[in-house]
Amino acid sequence: MAEIFVAKIAQFADGERRIVTDGKREIGVFHWRGAYYAYENLCLHQGGPACEGLLMHKVEDVIAPDRTWAGQRFSDCEIHFVCPWHGYEYDLKTGECAADRRLKLKRFEVLRRGEDLYVISD
Ligand code: FES
Repeated sequence: MAEIFVAKIAQFADGERRIVTDGKREIGVFHWRGAYYAYENLCLHQGGPACEGLLMHKVEDVIAPDRTWAGQRFSDCEIHFVCPWHGYEYDLKTGECAADRRLKLKRFEVLRRGEDLYVISD
């Protein structure tokens, strides 16, 4: 196992991300609402740089009391990053593919040591 330096915590603002490398492997590290998440930057579709895509809130359907469709809205609690190659969306907090939750990006532990942040790579 190796510890890969990500950033000084003071220089890694909430809402930002970093891409670090461990040999030939890239790892995307996200800072979101006070927590850190790290995944392999390798889309499960065709190997695109999934962690480099747009961040966007999940789009949810709104169902009226009479069970009819009443439009869409952005989720308050679920955020996705979107692979820039073909648009696969991944849940930022779990690494699951939003369209098929059985598919998950490889996750890495994030370690805070003093003022520095690391990911643990196997
Ligand atoms: S490679 Fe990521 S959506 Fe196709």
